[in-house]
Amino acid sequence: MGRAILSHFLILSNSAPQLSSSSISKLNGFASRSVRIRQNSKYSNGFRCYCDVSHSQQTSPEDSRTSVTVKKRIVSGVQPTGSVHLGNYLGAIKNWIALQNTYETLFFIVDLHAITLPYDTKELSKATRDTAAIYLACGIDASKASVFVQSHVHAHVELMWLLSSATPIGWLNRMIQFKEKSRKAGDENVGVALLTYPVLMASDILLYQSDFVPVGEDQKQHLELTRELAERVNYLYGGRKWKKLGGRGGAIFKVPEPLIPPAGARVMSLTDGLSKMSKSAPSDQSRINLLDPKDVIANKIKRCKTDSFPALEFDNPERPECNNLLSVYQLVSGKTKEDVAKECQGLNWGSFKPLLTDALIEHLHPIQVRYEEIHSDSAYLDSVLEEGARKASEIADATLKNVYQAMGFLRR
Ligand code: AMP
Ligand code: TRP
Repeated sequence: MGRAILSHFLILSNSAPQLSSSSISKLNGFASRSVRIRQNSKYSNGFRCYCDVSHSQQTSPEDSRTSVTVKKRIVSGVQPTGSVHLGNYLGAIKNWIALQNTYETLFFIVDLHAITLPYDTKELSKATRDTAAIYLACGIDASKASVFVQSHVHAHVELMWLLSSATPIGWLNRMIQFKEKSRKAGDENVGVALLTYPVLMASDILLYQSDFVPVGEDQKQHLELTRELAERVNYLYGGRKWKKLGGRGGAIFKVPEPLIPPAGARVMSLTDGLSKMSKSAPSDQSRINLLDPKDVIANKIKRCKTDSFPALEFDNPERPECNNLLSVYQLVSGKTKEDVAKECQGLNWGSFKPLLTDALIEHLHPIQVRYEEIHSDSAYLDSVLEEGARKASEIADATLKNVYQAMGFLRR
């Protein structure tokens, strides 16, 4: 099982040409960009596939002097703002489920990120619990993965401050999400945290010496910054400099790889196939929330934007809505792209929409039932978050200690 999943991971080398969506889907896995791989095999098209990480192997810099073997590590998170929607699910959470069987996984609710734009203090803790319950309802298994709340592990904020001293402000000014969100929020009035947000995200990832980070397409640039920051800190403070200060020497941080799924990485709005489905879009008609009741899902699909071309097809740039709805159908029905293309080529919108509605309801209903069960058992949810934070803190504190040492701080 593990080997089968992992043999699907795809890692592109820096010099590799752009991977077409069809070649990615042939490999039925995630796209990632890397040159740092120890065991790889080369596909005839020049792409590299990470193909053998199903057995334990030495990974993090912490272990480099011992022969301790550990699983590769994966971290990811979702903000507790608004409701979790189909984009969050297909772009991120759904992909975490298979990974937890083979990797050491840590999934957090990034509440500290949720305060970067104005928010409701009465809602934050509720949204944080709700998001944790959604993770578990979607299939995150607390006996395999650590599930915790970001603010419960103090090292996140502490490392962020240390990292921010090594982050050139120009890197942050270039972030597309910062430009977009600050423009929307009225530039001069936005909080500084919106600008420094990617440093907190880098801290979330680097604290755990993560190997892979499964996220949707919109987080690619933040991952790129995380990688650059890890390399910069390793260069500025790692290696011999760190050794002279009594440290282990070598790399302080592992440089992580993004894992972007070949389908679902960018689920589009139901009302505009050119905009991303998002929590912050004013109209709720633009998204399917994971907890939407059946009749709401049916209504949203009935009213969603379509086009007037005959038949249905993937990958026609003039038909973004069509591509999006077919991709959603593919992912929630569990069918292959080829099967969906065949099944739908003779259909029109009137016959496709009920199919899509049924597939969505069938996929989301069990999640909604589990959500209600988990949500009503607050003692269970508390214990999961408690244990998750405990395990996460152990790893995070070890990294933080190394960073303080390498940066020359006097320790107690
Ligand atoms: P956020 O809601 O910003 O906390 O996003 C949480 C995760 O969902 C991240 O990995 C995002 O990349 C992913 N995500 C958010 N919106 C979409 C979307 N429309 N399509 C695919 N993935 C998404
Ligand atoms: N920035 C991510 C988003 O908005 C959420 C996030 C914060 C995250 N820290 C992370 C994702 C660390 C992966 C790893 O979607």
